Amino acid sequence: MGRDHGRESSAFDAVAEAAGGESAGAGHGALDVVMEGLRRLEYRGYDSAGVAVISEQGIESRKKAGKLSNLVGELAADPLPRSMTGIGHTRWATHGGPTDQNAHPHLADEGRLALIHNGIIENYAELKAELTDQGLTFVSDTDTEVAAGLLGHLYRTLRDQGAEGDLLTRALQQACQRLEGAFTLLAIHEDQPGTVVAGRRNSPLVVGLGEGENFLGSDVSGFIDFTRRAVELGQDQIVTITPDDVVISDFYGTPAEGTEFHVDWDAAAAEKGGFASFMEKEIHDQPDAVGQTLLGRSDTAGNLVLDELRIDESILRSVDKIVVLACGTSAYAGQVAKYAIEHWCRIPTEVELSHEFRYRDPIVNEKTLVVAISQSGETMDTLMAVRYAREQGAKVVAICNTNGSTIPRESDAVLYTHAGPEIAVASTKAFLAQITAAYLLGLYLAQLRGNKYRDEIADVMADLAAIPAKIQTILDNADTIKALGADMANAKSVLFLGRHVGFPVAMEGALKLKELAYIHAEGFAAGELKHGPIALIEQGQPVVVVMPSQSARDSLHAKVVSNVQEIRARGAITIVIAEEGDTSVEAYSEHVFYVPASPTLLAPLLTTVPLQIFALALASAKGYDVDQPRNLAKSVTVE
Ligand code: G6P
Repeated sequence: MGRDHGRESSAFDAVAEAAGGESAGAGHGALDVVMEGLRRLEYRGYDSAGVAVISEQGIESRKKAGKLSNLVGELAADPLPRSMTGIGHTRWATHGGPTDQNAHPHLADEGRLALIHNGIIENYAELKAELTDQGLTFVSDTDTEVAAGLLGHLYRTLRDQGAEGDLLTRALQQACQRLEGAFTLLAIHEDQPGTVVAGRRNSPLVVGLGEGENFLGSDVSGFIDFTRRAVELGQDQIVTITPDDVVISDFYGTPAEGTEFHVDWDAAAAEKGGFASFMEKEIHDQPDAVGQTLLGRSDTAGNLVLDELRIDESILRSVDKIVVLACGTSAYAGQVAKYAIEHWCRIPTEVELSHEFRYRDPIVNEKTLVVAISQSGETMDTLMAVRYAREQGAKVVAICNTNGSTIPRESDAVLYTHAGPEIAVASTKAFLAQITAAYLLGLYLAQLRGNKYRDEIADVMADLAAIPAKIQTILDNADTIKALGADMANAKSVLFLGRHVGFPVAMEGALKLKELAYIHAEGFAAGELKHGPIALIEQGQPVVVVMPSQSARDSLHAKVVSNVQEIRARGAITIVIAEEGDTSVEAYSEHVFYVPASPTLLAPLLTTVPLQIFALALASAKGYDVDQPRNLAKSVTVE
């Protein structure tokens, strides 16, 4: 909220605003702030939504299953009174299905307290039994209602004991001491209008600093319309916001400090900017995402400088293994980077899904460099893997797109991708920016360890610098691939083939299609085809082939051409993504889409783009919501 609309406090996925008394005059009120925040955070979860405000009549709440638009309808039918303090939530169901009843906020203390929650409370069953014994009743299936019940119970106990002061904060401190698992909790109580309290453990929360008002959000987009001043909180902290104050403590009341940072993008960066969807816009942001990530990385002498990489150079020189940890699209970025890092640095590099890593007793020690790739910086699986790796003595570099998030804070160093906010659930621009950042890291290590001469590095940097314009060329000439995607709307399955760096690109292309179009799609290593997957090929089966450059190493190109012939002979319809000038593929393809030429290792930054456009066009032709595909959430903060 701006200065002109009163003094308010509110909180957001979790969103809240706390603003001052009504006296300060006009303005939107907390509800508008919270709803705007929820609109911006809806990508984090969208199976139900709810809000609560403190009005003169006390706590009032509305909640509704389904997308945020259902809640908007509910509020129009049954408006809430004006208020200066509110909280709101969009949900991605864990405990209990997406019903009105299970949506947040949950009320306690006879409806005088409202609470919202992200995460999973692992000891909720035990707490529920304990509270039920004390006479509390529960109406939903959620762990969240148990947290609300516990907080309400502790608050009441303090009040009945005659305690004075900020009881809500004290009660939340006590509640957080009892809770196990991962959580961000936000609560308001009608006895304390103008106050929102929040506690976090292993789940995101940032504070927004306004004037005469303060905000809380799961990430900064929750309050980006109102302020770009933000505070990042530490682990196991409690924060209390009022219109004029932000007070941070640990779970035991010991005062603590947060770290203030400036959000370097504005609200317009998180708007569709004239495109039909965020995904389309973000695909078009890609020249910038790569360009910005490359910006300012060389000194005048031509050395690569990674200022953020504050790990002792002697440690980086002694690294004998790299382990890349990530999930989803970020893991495919890691798989692409492996080819480049091993080639440039001669350091053995493994890529592991974060959630598999710590369960296989991995060999990790002080000589291991872990690279944790995460767009959001909040993926719980990756966070837990980072913690495990550090416990084993490894140094961790995060590659992350989100300032103020947890994974960079818990890593030894961070290399930020500068892709700007990514809102569509299916990742696009972050993927290209992650590959770019991982390449910078690889080149930096090669420079440091003497694997590459300065002029060799400068050559790669020049090739990288040429990539944004080449992506733009693809975007400007995408009509055929769009039309092809739309034509394939009735396909039951699409297979993707690639080899070398084209293999992870093929898997990413398949993932995009699964996520957006809900059809069977799989990416295979082209060479593996004959060992099994070729059995899937029948008449009319669409197969997208990521063709290596003719100048790629050895006879890679010729081998993939043979693979294409093998599947065509069995009835496949082939859609080939090839380098411009590669007319040799025309004889073997039903459809060819050309991308500009580039060195082999950089080709994924180009060949991925038509696959994104293909998936977008196919899903759009089916009439699906490409920004918010079913069952998914952008930031998965549970394990
Ligand atoms: C979720 C998202 C994916 C994303 C993955 C990793 O599954 O739906 O789009 O690639 O998480 O997210 P991260 O933020 O760690 O890159």
